[in-house]
Amino acid sequence: MKTIVVSNRKGGSAKTTTAVNIATGLAKHGSVLLLDFDTQGHASIGVGCDLNETLGVHSIFEGKTLSETFIPTVHKNLTLSPALAFFDVYEYSDLRGVLKSRFKRENIAEFFDYCIIDTPPTFDALLKNSLEVADSVLIPFVPHHLGVVAVGQMMRALYKSNNESEKKIEDVFILPVMYNPHINEHKESVTKVKTSFGEGKLLSPIGIDIKLAQQFESGSPIILESKRSKGLKDYNNCVSELLVRFEGER
Ligand SMILES: Nc1ncnc2c1ncn2[C@@H]1O[C@H](COP(=O)(O)OP(=O)(O)OP(=O)(O)O)[C@@H](O)[C@H]1O
Ligand SMILES: [Mg+2]
Repeated sequence: MKTIVVSNRKGGSAKTTTAVNIATGLAKHGSVLLLDFDTQGHASIGVGCDLNETLGVHSIFEGKTLSETFIPTVHKNLTLSPALAFFDVYEYSDLRGVLKSRFKRENIAEFFDYCIIDTPPTFDALLKNSLEVADSVLIPFVPHHLGVVAVGQMMRALYKSNNESEKKIEDVFILPVMYNPHINEHKESVTKVKTSFGEGKLLSPIGIDIKLAQQFESGSPIILESKRSKGLKDYNNCVSELLVRFEGER
């Protein structure tokens, strides 16, 4: 199982849009588990489910198994562990290693080809738990000055996490989102990221497409498919690029 954590501490940088679209895209190639680690629950909404008030992925911090939080989605091959609404990470003093121990004890890797984790825009125990099980981290960023700064901050956080954890993150992918090739600042920001962190980490950009926002209303990228959206095409391309990178590692 390949575990991909979608993360950026900067809010509104299309983490959830990316998590939902790569999860549904990868589900066409294998079995996928989507963990909605952001209590906003937007990834759950994005795959047509509600966030739960009694049982969700955050229930593992209250003693539940991960498997008992699983629910099927309308997408073939895509299982969701929804967000637990109102879970407050700050009520707990030490949550280290909980997700990692659930993965191990429940043999999660035996049941899925890919696990996608949507994370909140914070550097807290939820993100740390995600990084402890990550093979890859995907950082979506809006190509503006602060977007570039945020990528640098994430890279430093990953470096720190790699130093502190036994499991090393193998790959970091950086994905420009809401990209407009006619805006100079967008082009320059992508060049800065390439120069600073290496061209090999960059994935092809996702353009602006309002249908990517509308898909959350229907809870399904099917709306995108039916309208042959540019956004869906970009995310399908992103999935293909990820598959090529993963294939190259075998
Ligand atoms: N390529 C795109 N084109 C147009 N709108 C987009 C695109 N990507 C994301 N959006 C919209 O931008 C907003 C922020 O996206 P999203 O919720 O995925 O970001 P996020 O990083 O998960 O936010 P948060 O930090 O709150 O978790 C949403 O309204 C989403 O629909
Ligand atoms: Mg989000």
